[in-house]
Amino acid sequence: MRARLDPDALAFSVLRGLTMIGGLAALSIVPLRLEHEIHLLPLLGAFIAYKAALFTLLFFSPEHARPIFLATLGTDLGIVFILVWFTGGGESHFYLLFLILVALNGYQFGPGIGTLAGVLSAGLMALANLLVVPAAPWSHIAARAALFALLGLALGHIARRERWARAEIERINAELRAVLADLEAAKDRALRAEELAAAGRISARMAHEVRSPISAIGLNVEMLEDIVGSCPGPSMGDAADLLRGIRAEVKRLAGLTEEYLTFARLPRARPEDDSVNEMVDELLAFVRPEAQKRDVALEAAPDPLIPLFSFDRDLLRRAVLNLLKNAIEATPRRGRVRLATRLCDGRVEVAVADSGAGIDARHASHLFEPFYTTKPRGTGLGLAIARQIAEEHGGTLTWENAREGGARFVLHIPLGTLGAGAPSAAVQAASAAPSGGARS
Ligand SMILES: Nc1ncnc2c1ncn2[C@@H]1O[C@H](COP(=O)(O)OP(=O)(O)O)[C@@H](O)[C@H]1O
Ligand SMILES: [Mg+2]
Repeated sequence: MRARLDPDALAFSVLRGLTMIGGLAALSIVPLRLEHEIHLLPLLGAFIAYKAALFTLLFFSPEHARPIFLATLGTDLGIVFILVWFTGGGESHFYLLFLILVALNGYQFGPGIGTLAGVLSAGLMALANLLVVPAAPWSHIAARAALFALLGLALGHIARRERWARAEIERINAELRAVLADLEAAKDRALRAEELAAAGRISARMAHEVRSPISAIGLNVEMLEDIVGSCPGPSMGDAADLLRGIRAEVKRLAGLTEEYLTFARLPRARPEDDSVNEMVDELLAFVRPEAQKRDVALEAAPDPLIPLFSFDRDLLRRAVLNLLKNAIEATPRRGRVRLATRLCDGRVEVAVADSGAGIDARHASHLFEPFYTTKPRGTGLGLAIARQIAEEHGGTLTWENAREGGARFVLHIPLGTLGAGAPSAAVQAASAAPSGGARS
């Protein structure tokens, strides 16, 4: 698309053309001597043609409006000079057109160009006076010259201040709009947080209410399974299958209520000196059956240099478990999940990477929102809890889509002041064993 002349430049070019032509016409009312009058019409014609050419040029090259204006300021001054010269030099009243040019250009381009236009006008007027015999008194010419320069300077200065004030107002306006947008976003966030808190309270209450009956049902089902198992009979096989199904669902419900309660009432971290690699080892053993069932290989890459440091083992275990569960759920058969620990800049990193499809951009901004899930039977609390736990330890939980595919979640936990000790026994054992190898 072609650039368009900005409204300021358009107004300036129209104003300059009209005031010059209007000024010429107005000054023509004053009777001229015959030898001067014959030059007037051809000069007016030439001036109008030149202005038309200027508009055409501006129309086709609006992006060069400023250099065009500055270049044609010289032409304007030249035309007025010829006019003044041909109509009596220092005696001609057309010198007033210089004033229009100085005023307009001073206002448009500031005090520098304004003063320059004034000085050039003064010089050209003096030259016109010199070329006509007899010359007008030089004191008159000097007084007009001073006026030109002063007008250019003063108007240019005023215009610059006015432009500066306008730019300042626009800047403040933009800042204000940004602040208003921030405020609006903060209001939305506060509203959402309030809604989530309410949902959290309700779900915690529900979870609390159903927890005991669910565990009672679980116990009864186990007892029933024992009874059914000890009773021979053809239909007992079916009954045992049904009971197994019920037990699996009860287990799932118990896990669900547990997660809701954890989210609503996450206990304060009670850090104690412990080995993160040992905790991770135990966790891998815990999830291995589930991974094997899904044909997902588990890999471990512990950093043997991580010393004992202070963290809440139960809480951190839960956070890493949530990440591991997500990773296993996201990985297709014959894929792999890798759990690595690392000591980096005074922080311990626990990273869980999978070979699934990675995080879809549509879900990325909602990942840590409580109750946000893309799974038919998900709670949407796993990541929210993991992040709460990281923050409870003064750390963070980050994620990325790995270049080689799959998602990678990393818990960053500061070592704290208790972490300066020697590597733990478990860590030393881990360093003796081959690390980073595939252990599925
Ligand atoms: N490793 C992963 N790969 C792909 N998507 C993931 C991964 N971990 C989490 N997600 C996405 O984040 C969502 C929220 O996870 P989470 O809070 O653990 O809740 P849930 O697992 O119950 O859905 C998941 O539903 C899933 O869409
Ligand atoms: Mg989850």
